[in-house]
Amino acid sequence: MEDREEKRPKPCLILALETSCDETAASVVADGRRILSNVISSQIPVHQKFGGVVPEIASRKHIENVIPVVDQALREAKVSLSDITAIGVTYGPGLVGALLVGVSVAKALSFATDKPLIGVNHLEGHIFANFLSHPELEPPFMALVVSGGHTSLVHVKGYNEFELLGQTRDDAAGEAFDKIARVMKLPYPGGPYIDRLAKTGNPEAIAFPRALTGRDNFEFSFSGLKSAVLNYLHSAGQRGEEVNHADVAASFQAAVVDVLVSKVLQAASKCQVKKIVLAGGVAANSGLIFKLQQQCQQANITLYHPETILCTDNGAMIACRAYYQHISGRYADLHLNAIPSLNLGDRR
Ligand code: KG4
Ligand code: ZN
Repeated sequence: MEDREEKRPKPCLILALETSCDETAASVVADGRRILSNVISSQIPVHQKFGGVVPEIASRKHIENVIPVVDQALREAKVSLSDITAIGVTYGPGLVGALLVGVSVAKALSFATDKPLIGVNHLEGHIFANFLSHPELEPPFMALVVSGGHTSLVHVKGYNEFELLGQTRDDAAGEAFDKIARVMKLPYPGGPYIDRLAKTGNPEAIAFPRALTGRDNFEFSFSGLKSAVLNYLHSAGQRGEEVNHADVAASFQAAVVDVLVSKVLQAASKCQVKKIVLAGGVAANSGLIFKLQQQCQQANITLYHPETILCTDNGAMIACRAYYQHISGRYADLHLNAIPSLNLGDRR
């Protein structure tokens, strides 16, 4: 019995760090898909009083938090640094000063322990969160990445093969949620608050615009919608009319959801894939999940989305992505630098 235990192959353990925006996160993931720890130190309360992320404060908070967060991730996983197979880190896209904290710490850990270093694209990490929530999921599939900074349609053809079909020309979906919420005096980040408020409102109360809805147009634009909502609120205010905030939230959310659902379904049909994957913070939106689920059923497509804690920024998704880079031998070296505008599929 003891003999057999000794011969059992050691798991591949990835320690990953994520500091691209306002969460300092570290995680240990075994064999790519088994989360041993997932520690997230959120700075949301710090940024809330400014109504959004203040980059300088984010960097400073990452510096304070990163080592305790890494220590906690190792402790909760019941492993030590010497057990780790490789170290993953987000190196873009994101806030440069914030990214640099994670990248510097990961390089130092890699140098000190002589473990390989893996640079991870944050957006690819968001997509890979789905492999943690759905052990059976494999490419190919169509991914809709909807976060605070990005709105992208990506044909994931393999673990290292991504085709970007389209992205937003202006605001990201999450950014639109946050800006509208701010005007409605809801706390930052506003997405979850709009989501909750929308449940009690009428999505057909106000006809807000849907942009770029032409067939097979895979670009997005949310700035017109944002202006329309702001104008609506402003005009009502000037006329002294009372605004039904739940109706505004529901009608705004319906406009975002309609566009996202219609484009991802068209993209899946065009690329002939039968699986759709949601990724990024807005993937937690209940209206989006509900409508997409309905339409996917009609089109005989299977919908995947990560559990809520894996939708927003976390280290486990970065560890999962790093694992697949590790098994295909894609490592970084100590020249790894933060790249704030890193594109999906860019190689390091
Ligand atoms: O992926 P994420 O944590 O950070 C980025 O990489 O940008 O996404 C954060 C975004 C924020 O804009 C937040 O308001 C939005 O995701 N979000 C939501 C919901 N939960 C988070 N938006 C709509 N509905 C939600 N339930
Ligand atoms: Zn993110």
